[in-house]
Order: sequence, then C-alpha cells, then structure tokens
Amino acid sequence: MRILVTGGAGYIGSHTCHVLTNKGYEVIVYDNLENGHKESLPENVKLIVGDLADTSKLNDCFKEKVDGVIHFAGYIEAGESMIDPLKFYKNNISNGINLLKVMSKNNVKNLVYSSSAGVYGQPKEIPIKEISEKKPVNNYGWTKLMFEQIVDSCDFNCICLRYFNAAGAGFNVGEDHDPETHLIPLILGNVLGKNEFKIFGEDYKTPDKSCIRDYIHVLDLAEVHLVALEALFKGIKGKYNVGTGKGNSVFEIINVCEEVTGKKIVKNVVGRREGDPAELVADADKIFKELGWKAKYDLKEIIRSAWEWHKNNPGGFKR
Ligand code: UFG
Repeated sequence: MRILVTGGAGYIGSHTCHVLTNKGYEVIVYDNLENGHKESLPENVKLIVGDLADTSKLNDCFKEKVDGVIHFAGYIEAGESMIDPLKFYKNNISNGINLLKVMSKNNVKNLVYSSSAGVYGQPKEIPIKEISEKKPVNNYGWTKLMFEQIVDSCDFNCICLRYFNAAGAGFNVGEDHDPETHLIPLILGNVLGKNEFKIFGEDYKTPDKSCIRDYIHVLDLAEVHLVALEALFKGIKGKYNVGTGKGNSVFEIINVCEEVTGKKIVKNVVGRREGDPAELVADADKIFKELGWKAKYDLKEIIRSAWEWHKNNPGGFKR
C-alpha cells in the first residue's frame, strides 16, 4: 500500500515514516523542508520537496495510486501563531484545503490528521476527554480545531489525532526545532551548555505550582499513526486524544532530567509564558477502547532516549 505523508521530514512525521516503512508500506513524503530534515527519513522513502501551496506538484504525488494520506505539514509554534496569525491560517488552513482538494480530485478519502491538545485551550476538567469543551487559547489551536471542522464538513474518512506533548527520540532521530521552544530539548541543551533554560512560571494552581503536561514518547506517537491508518482501512473514523493519561510538572521533568543526565540543573524561574494552560492531561481511554492502542513508554524512557540523541548530536541535524 502506498501512503502520502505531508510534513514527513518533521519530528513526528519522520518517526512515523520509519514505522510505516518497517511495516512494509511504500511511503511518499511531501515536505518543503522549511522545518523538516531529510536526514531524518528512512532511505527507502520517496521524498518530494514541495509546498502544499504548489497544487500541481502536490497532484503529481497522486500519479500512482495513493491508499491514504497522513497530514503532518503545518506550523506548530503556538507563541508565533499569536505574533503572525495569518502565517498560520495560510499554511495550516489554506494549504490544508489545497491538500483536501487534490485528494478529492484523485478520489483519495483516507486521511490521518495531526491535530493537537491545543484544541482544548485551558480545560475546565482534567483529564481531558474528546468531548470536553474546545476553546483554543492561541491561533495555532484554532487552526487545528478549524481544520478538524473542515474535514468533518467534507466527505473524507478521517482520524484526527490530538497529540499531547511529544518528546523523546528513536530510529536515531531526535527533536531539532529552530528555534527550539520545547521543554525537554531545552533542558537537555542546557545540560550540554548549548542554551539557557528558564522555568516559565511558579504560580500555577498545581501541586508544585509549575505547569503540568502529558508527555508522550515520539515512538508511541509514530505507532499510533499506523494503528489509525489501519483503522481507517477498516472503515473507522473519529477524533482521539493521544497521550499517556499521566501528567508531569516542569519540576518533575527537571528531576528526571537530573537523574538521567547525572547533572544538576539550575532552576531559574521567570514569569509565565503567554498562552500556557496550567494543566493538560489526556483521558486516553477512547483510543484504547476503540483502536486498542495505549502508550508503552514511560517518562524516564522518553528522557533517556532524548538525552542519548542530544548527547550524540549536539548540533542537531546541522552536523
Ligand atoms: N516550559 C518552560 N521553559 C521552557 C519551555 C517550556 O518552563 O523553556 C514549560 C512551559 O511553560 C510548559 C511546559 O514547559 O508548561 C511544556 O512546554 P512546551 O513548549 O514543551 O510544550 P507546550 O505544552 O507549550 O506545547 C506542546 C506543543 C503544542 C501542543 C501542546 C499540546 O508544542 O503544539 O504541546 O499539549 F499543542
């Protein structure tokens, strides 16, 4: 079976490509390499460097029969989405619509969509269920929610995966964003002397007053795309939280990083970062009940794998 993966050279996308090719799928990656790294891809994928705005090039990806699409391509930085909203709406919505149009034209209906816990905003109830209120607190979250709505309004077989906090490394591929804004790579980068690290806020209504997130191993996330794809082939559609169901605070993450690296981390607390909800933890029951999937890796393994990669690749992919 042949799968088109948009944004397949990105962090979660490339891990998914490894899982798909290992399982025998033929994979075409469509990525403009603005944020992706071609080095992160398995050798046996076909990479087409192109932008979703280029519908003619995108259409070429469908010359040979495509059985399903996994749509990762999009901007992910919530803070930036507040500074330059139109950049996000153009790429995450308009370009996403281009993809849907080209899929329709080629009569391809199966879609796995990279959504986000960002659709929930600042939730009133924890853990968050799929039916919980959806009220994004940044434009990134709005683009994810709107695109879910757009797909619902059209005739697609779609599984939307609402990721919680992806972290860790596998297949010799790690997290390398530019600029990096995510907690775990910033802590580990700090241990390696690469960057500063600051704790954003110690005044939240949580037990240790720092923010709580549900960290999920990128290998678990990659696996869930395969599960979703195979569910689509059986006619299942839906929206699913993809998390572990367990939350950890920023201070807990720092403690595990200290344990894994054997290094002391300076706890430099500054003010809150705008748009950060106090707590985001998934209720991960629906995906287990309906698709039989649950996360395998724990926090220590997430951080151990991330540390291994960052230690061996201190310059990221720009070696
Ligand atoms: N944090 C710090 N210092 C830093 C970076 C982060 O204290 O230098 C804190 C944040 O305040 C937050 C937590 O660490 O409380 C996690 O922050 P990340 O930036 O790693 O991740 P976010 O929770 O902000 O967002 C991530 C993805 C989003 C997705 C969300 C879903 O980047 O795309 O998870 O839960 F929507």
